[in-house]
Amino acid sequence: MFFDLIIKNANLALTGNTVNSAELNCLYGASVGIKDGIIEAIWEADKAQEASSSKVIDASGQWLLPGFLDCHTHLVFAGNRADEFARRARGESYQQIAASGGGILSTVRATREASEDELFEVSLVRAKALVSGGVTHLEIKSGYGLDWDNEAKMLRVAQRIGTALNIEVSCTYLGAHALPPEYSTNRAAYVDIICNNHLPKLAQLKLASAVDMFCEGIGFNASECERIICAAQALGLKIKAHAEQLSRSGGAALIAQYQGLSADHIEYLSLPDIKAMAKNNVVGVLLPGAFYTLNDTQKPPIDALRNAGVTLAVSTDLNPGSSPIGSLLLVANMAVNQFQLTIEEALWGITLHAAKALGIEDSRGSIAVGKRADVCLWPIETPEQLIVEIGLHAPTKIWSAGRE
Ligand code: NIG
Ligand code: FE
Repeated sequence: MFFDLIIKNANLALTGNTVNSAELNCLYGASVGIKDGIIEAIWEADKAQEASSSKVIDASGQWLLPGFLDCHTHLVFAGNRADEFARRARGESYQQIAASGGGILSTVRATREASEDELFEVSLVRAKALVSGGVTHLEIKSGYGLDWDNEAKMLRVAQRIGTALNIEVSCTYLGAHALPPEYSTNRAAYVDIICNNHLPKLAQLKLASAVDMFCEGIGFNASECERIICAAQALGLKIKAHAEQLSRSGGAALIAQYQGLSADHIEYLSLPDIKAMAKNNVVGVLLPGAFYTLNDTQKPPIDALRNAGVTLAVSTDLNPGSSPIGSLLLVANMAVNQFQLTIEEALWGITLHAAKALGIEDSRGSIAVGKRADVCLWPIETPEQLIVEIGLHAPTKIWSAGRE
């Protein structure tokens, strides 16, 4: 085979498709052959000698890792909520701030006011921050527009970001993020609009591949979420939920019942929820940046999740309120130090397991033959440094589908 690119003399980590989370599946002094954006060959040591390619890069012993996937972000928004950080530091809770007109609805006001181009410009800066830290696949949610025009505007901006930065973006519709002010006296009518109007348009225009919901006291209750899940699945859209973040509201059990992709946050998960997630192959997405920012004390039940065999991913939850953090490696560090993940689990959590939370683990998230060539080269001695040493590392090269 004639390759478009061979990266030789690299140490590889996070290779293969079968994961024992205690290992990083490393290969030393190896080479990778890429053709048409796909990893087509992996050679141990100097076995690549005979293969020919239009381009050869000598990694000189640097580490080649899969590009990271940030599988839960709200990075398209306008305005900022810096004031709320100080209010929380003085003792107000996230829920109190939301009830007083701040929180998500304050970002909804700013996002509705912004033009599509303005929204693109401010959001691009945040996406660039993640990409400069080795992220090659971003999930981006709507949820600060709430009416159709503004939700669609957010999702178009998310798609433009992918094109502008030469990375892949998975778009998720999060209309059930907060009750819009125009429906404040009629919850059922808003859920009707989501199910009967927004979701069909979304599927028809292919603006999103998944549907998320905030299943929570200050969001939507389990029966409202169930209606949305059924409507979404009838249209072939994948489902996931913000579940058990501030209380046990039933989101994780619902996602398990309907065999969705992931339950995210999951601080208040109970044992039956964990069993249901394991049985139905639902990924648990840990968002330690939100836990940190909201000064939460209830940690997700990591030992029970691990013992049950639930796949765990880690993501920034980048948003203006509960997690204004543009570094996936920083939150991976938090997942280890605050939630007691192992370093290996954290690295799988931002690669293959994050891919699974998006339903794309067969073709993304590790270095393996047949996978999309989203890879980054890191000038480090060992991959663990990326998790342990905060803010000190950046990739020397980033390839998205084999393109630098
Ligand atoms: O994942 N919990 C709901 N949604 C976001 C927060 C959004 C916001 O505060 O603007 C989260 O934490
Ligand atoms: Fe979130």
